[in-house]
Parts: sequence; structure tokens; C-alpha cells
Amino acid sequence: MNLILMGPPGAGKGTQARRIAEKYKIPQLSTGDMLRAAVAAGSDVGLKAKAAMESGSLVTDDVVVGIISDRIKEKDCAKGFILDGFPRTVAQAEALDGMLSKESLKINHVIDVAADDEALVTRITGRMTCSKCGEGFHKEYKKPKKKNKCDLCGGKLTTRADDNEETVRNRLKVYHEQTAPVIGFYQEKGSFKEVDGMQAMDDVFGSLCAILG
Ligand code: AP5
Ligand code: MG
Repeated sequence: MNLILMGPPGAGKGTQARRIAEKYKIPQLSTGDMLRAAVAAGSDVGLKAKAAMESGSLVTDDVVVGIISDRIKEKDCAKGFILDGFPRTVAQAEALDGMLSKESLKINHVIDVAADDEALVTRITGRMTCSKCGEGFHKEYKKPKKKNKCDLCGGKLTTRADDNEETVRNRLKVYHEQTAPVIGFYQEKGSFKEVDGMQAMDDVFGSLCAILG
């Protein structure tokens, strides 16, 4: 099963992709997570991505397309994968089509997790992520049992450099201008579905599983 999870910043792509990955035993491929790892490592990709990520703009298509085309060839993707945060432009969607057809693969589901902009600002500015295992938390909607500690592994909870209100507003603007047109691209292909991302986290997961089967 090859799945694309779409949605604006803070819609819950990462939260839901982790749960789908666990249930269906397929990896979550988050371009945001991969780029943050590259920035932290100071690699060539990281150096190219850093400024765009800090301002909430998109990293160039060639960089992210390169990352994904290498990643989907890895062994753990043989039974399927979840794309979280890719493709984010029509050019990336076209490049994905090209790389999948070369490998005789196809996308089975494209699901958009839809949510209102104002709710997204609250979600993102309250987000905390475990520095060790990557589990996500929220200061109101998913409070950790112990302050700043991950419920799963005890790791320290951190906040993302791009999770301030100013950057979030720019990420939302970029989403509406550059990523929303990707919905039309997949609607035309007939593989597109939407779930209501304004529901509670468990209900969003239920809606996704109802589609995935
Ligand atoms: P990326 O890391 O993908 O960020 P994003 O798209 O802005 O999305 P987020 O990760 O912020 O949100 P999410 O939907 O995963 O929400 P989450 O589940 O964490 O990208 C970062 C940057 O990298 C981009 O700005 C760009 O620069 C670059 N980049 C990445 N991919 C790229 C690409 N393909 N092309 C070019 N550039 C690229 O949830 C958010 C919070 O809300 C959490 O605290 C969570 O606990 C809470 N929450 C989740 N669901 C619910 C719910 N149902 N109810 C209440 N709270 C909820
Ligand atoms: Mg995410």
C-alpha cells in the first residue's frame, strides 16, 4: 500500500502517519523530518534547506525530489510507504509519477487531512516533539504525563524552530498558494479522498482506517 497524506501545516499528517505506520507496518516518509535531520547534521542538503525552512518557505523541488527518489528504493519500502508532506507542489507530484512508473509502482490512496487555518495556528504553536523517539505532543490537546518528558521513552520534549506564529502564517500562505493545487492534480486522477482533520485525533485515525481498510 502506497499512500500520500496531504494537508496544511499542523493538520495532523505526522501524528496520523505514525499511527498508520504502526498499524500497517509500512514506513512513514516525512520530508520535513528528513530535512530537519539534514539541517541538524549540517549536510549539503541541510545547508540548502535551512533558510527556506526557517522562514516557512518551500525547499526547492530538486532537493526534496532527490531525497524521496532515493528513499523509496530502500528495502523497507518494498511493502509500501506513507508519504507525509510530499508532494507539495504540482512539479513534485509530476516528478513522483515519473519515479514511481520507473519502479512499476503506483499510489493507492491520496488522502487530505483538512483543517481550518486558525485551529492550525493553535496546534502548531502548542506542539512538542520527543527528541529521542519523535512522538508528538501538544500543550493542550495531548499533554505529556510528566512536564517536558515523553510518555513513551522518557526523552526530552523539544519545540521546532519553525513553530512560531509568524512562520506558521507564512507556511499556511505557502500551503494555499503552492500545495493546495496538488489536490486538483490528484482529483483529476480519481485517487483523492478527504478526511475531517478537525475531529479528535482518534476519530481522524478512525476515518483514515475506514478508507485504508
Ligand atoms: P513539515 O515538517 O512537513 O511541516 P508542515 O507541513 O508545516 O506540517 P507539520 O509537521 O507542522 O504538521 P503535521 O500535519 O505533521 O501536524 P502534527 O501531526 O505534527 O515541513 C517543514 C518544512 O520543511 C516546510 O515548511 C518546508 O520548508 C520543508 N519541506 C518539507 N517537505 C517539503 C517538500 N515536499 N517540499 C518543499 N519543502 C518541504 O500535529 C500538529 C500538532 O497538533 C501536534 O502538537 C499534535 O499533537 C496536534 N494535533 C494533531 N492532530 C490533532 C487533532 N486532531 N486535534 C488536536 N490536536 C491535534
Ligand atoms: Mg509533520
